[in-house]
Amino acid sequence: MTTFIVPKNIFHGLGSLENLKTIEGTKAVIVIGGSSVKKNGVLEKTQNFLSEAGIQSAVFSGVEADPSIDTVMKGAKFFAQEQPDVVIGLGGCSAIDAAKAMWVFYEYPESTLEELAAPFAVKTMRNKAIFVAIPSTSGTGTEITGLSVITDREKGTKYPIVSHELTPDVAIIDGELCASMPGHVTANTGLDALSHGVEAYVSNIADRYNDALAKGSIDLVFKNLPRAVAEPDELETRQAMHDASCMAGMAFTNVWLGIVHAMSHQVGGTFGIAHGCGNAILMPNVIRFNAKVTGKYGDLAALFGKTTAEEFAREVAGLTASVGVADSFKACGIDEEQWNAKLDAMTEHALKDPCTLFNPRKPTFEEIRAIYQACYDGTAIDF
Ligand SMILES: NC(=O)c1ccc[n+]([C@@H]2O[C@H](COP(=O)([O-])OP(=O)(O)OC[C@H]3O[C@@H](n4cnc5c(N)ncnc54)[C@H](O)[C@@H]3O)[C@@H](O)[C@H]2O)c1
Ligand SMILES: [Zn+2]
Repeated sequence: MTTFIVPKNIFHGLGSLENLKTIEGTKAVIVIGGSSVKKNGVLEKTQNFLSEAGIQSAVFSGVEADPSIDTVMKGAKFFAQEQPDVVIGLGGCSAIDAAKAMWVFYEYPESTLEELAAPFAVKTMRNKAIFVAIPSTSGTGTEITGLSVITDREKGTKYPIVSHELTPDVAIIDGELCASMPGHVTANTGLDALSHGVEAYVSNIADRYNDALAKGSIDLVFKNLPRAVAEPDELETRQAMHDASCMAGMAFTNVWLGIVHAMSHQVGGTFGIAHGCGNAILMPNVIRFNAKVTGKYGDLAALFGKTTAEEFAREVAGLTASVGVADSFKACGIDEEQWNAKLDAMTEHALKDPCTLFNPRKPTFEEIRAIYQACYDGTAIDF
């Protein structure tokens, strides 16, 4: 027996931002990142739709990429002043994740980040406000997931806060918001969405519901990502990538991820490699590794009229190259000496990462280390 948990309302389609008019409340705080939603007029539209719903709004701006605990605490203070009954995360995943964490501290001011990082430590939410997520990147699926990733820069650690209590009440998936995304962000975040679909599809707790969503999202990414990068203003393509990211998010929030993420988290934390880029580099070799225990990659190869895991691994590498993303960690510019110095620690941490628990094949220290090394060199593994 298992459950399938997603937001109660998922509005999707070009122009679906307008559904903000249906939200019930009196006061909203909108959390945004930098200036892109101001420049492209999305913030103004958001505030106007809220006004039509009779909701006043205040804006907390300046959430940085990989949001810090300091920013979250500043936001929580702002929430305490403004007393919203609707919290809106608007922008990239960093803005939305920061908004989720601010919401927790608004509801439970006495909490600490360390406490909340324990699995499912978040208490019952929605005593003060509901949560609306409006993403402007097509990758992480945070509009769907019970996850917020916050960075403690002093300790140099990323804390994932994991709880279905954090699953937004409303998600708005409007591809129009993505047209202003730069090419490299489109490519990296799109490959992140692909990795969510692929890892969810082979998760050791996968089920039919999530398989359908995961496979559908993979198909959409292959068909649309190159065009989203090459023709950024083509809105139907933007919407297709936004839908893909959301569908992959639905799958992975329910059946979790695998060692692509466990390993990528370490390379991101240690060398600052963009999350989606790290995932794309790791995916072909992780597919080869996992293919020894699961035949499910054959279903994914069938999307291309092919049959084997190796053929699917090559399709992933081909897509990565076609959107201008590097094919090895060496090609990302990581110095060999520094790589060698960090390799054992990254391997150790990847083994302990919670995502490893859901990988179809249980890896050893030596195996993770060898996959890392092959992905640094840009070679294929065979074990
Ligand atoms: N919550 C989750 O489920 C989850 C899952 C995986 C990763 N993460 C976390 O998500 C964060 C990364 O989020 P992200 O990939 O969405 O990137 P991001 O939010 O950090 O945004 C990347 C950059 O793109 C800009 N940007 C975003 N949308 C734009 C648009 N439409 N037009 C122009 N510029 C735009 C941002 O201002 C920023 O400079 C990391 O902190 C990662 O750890 C969270
Ligand atoms: Zn990811």
